Amino acid sequence: MLMMPQISFVKNKAPIEVPTGSNLMQALLDANIPVASSCHGDGVCCKCVVLVSKGLENLSSRNKIELELLERNPLTFQQRVSCQTLVLGPIEIDTGYW
Ligand code: FES
Repeated sequence: MLMMPQISFVKNKAPIEVPTGSNLMQALLDANIPVASSCHGDGVCCKCVVLVSKGLENLSSRNKIELELLERNPLTFQQRVSCQTLVLGPIEIDTGYW
């Protein structure tokens, strides 16, 4: 059976369920939740960063593209580049603009 981890939000949004392994940014966009971006998920702009308040361990580890972005953009360990991140279990997230 396909697992459907829940993405919940710190601020006033209903949680959504997505198939395990979903791309985080795409899953949010598919649910009509806006995600800041100027590179459309190509891993260049670093605008799609989300703050992960719960379930950090339920995300794929940082890939090469995210690690390269990290060299130019100071992110905390709780911030993930959503277009480069896969959802593997339940998480809770936030951005400054939601
Ligand atoms: S959308 Fe540009 S780096 Fe993720």
